[in-house]
Amino acid sequence: MTTSSAPGKIYLFGEHAVVYGEPAVPCAIERRARVTVEQREDSHLRVHADDLSLDGFTVEYSGATDAAPDIDVSESLIQAAMGYVDAAVRQARDAADAPDAGFDITIESDIPLGAGLGSSAAVTVAGIDAATRELCVELEAEEIADRAFQAEYEVQEGQASRADTFCSAMGGAVRVEGDDCRAIDAPDLPIVVGFDGGAGDTGELVAGVRELRETYGFAANTVAAIGDIVREGERSLAEGDIERLGELMDFNHGLLEALGVSSRSLDNMVWAARDAGAYGAKLTGAGGGGCIVALDDSEETETALRFTPGCEETFRAGLDREGVRLEE
Ligand code: MEV
Repeated sequence: MTTSSAPGKIYLFGEHAVVYGEPAVPCAIERRARVTVEQREDSHLRVHADDLSLDGFTVEYSGATDAAPDIDVSESLIQAAMGYVDAAVRQARDAADAPDAGFDITIESDIPLGAGLGSSAAVTVAGIDAATRELCVELEAEEIADRAFQAEYEVQEGQASRADTFCSAMGGAVRVEGDDCRAIDAPDLPIVVGFDGGAGDTGELVAGVRELRETYGFAANTVAAIGDIVREGERSLAEGDIERLGELMDFNHGLLEALGVSSRSLDNMVWAARDAGAYGAKLTGAGGGGCIVALDDSEETETALRFTPGCEETFRAGLDREGVRLEE
């Protein structure tokens, strides 16, 4: 039996613009998905997860190419999670040259599902690591990142960027620009997350930005301006200038809002954090609902978010410098 874990992430800067070749800076946070894998004697997959949904679920089906579980899984987010597990197993089988390997898989996660915190990437990354190790193959983190990206790309039908999977595999702060992904220096960041309990539809939100870009030249300039914020933000990260980072996050949120990907609950949480004295705050991920990220080394932002209409959960999560890892 093998257990691996991988962290979720927030976008400090650059979501959406990264789709158009601009750089983005995601940062891994101290919230993890853990995947336990035990090889079976047959080629079936049996997947159990308690905390991906309120009710938990167990499904058993006969192999990674047979995508239809024999137990009804009605929850769409759970179905999506199953897609990632399935694709991760395909990658692990391929890496270990074991096309018929079957597994019992248990998923535990403290990353809210579908909320822009990279939960699917963390499950995919940890799943590939655990399943390959179970088959006595140890992959470098870069290869796990690459295989996890292939898995996400397949599930998201070509819409995935490398940001989530690379960040989850490597940990820390990373810079992603097209296929070029690398780790970058960052100080400890006082990260506070606010979650509205919902999730935006990434495909629809990405399509909405595309339409705006095609309709208005200035929307293309807005996307390019986010790229400029990211480049400026990288300098502030290297200098450890948290005040400047906060200011740039505020700017980045304003431009995402202009691109139509914020929501009332996200804006409420962003303003609550700013009013509470955070260095800065912005939505993180695709938007439309889900999470905001703020930088604040006092308790004020968390306290304010607890009383903010639309905020269901708030937590502090430091920068996680460790990416995918084997759990003892
Ligand atoms: C979604 O988490 C981030 C987006 O930039 C889409 C992507 O990069 O794949 C909106």
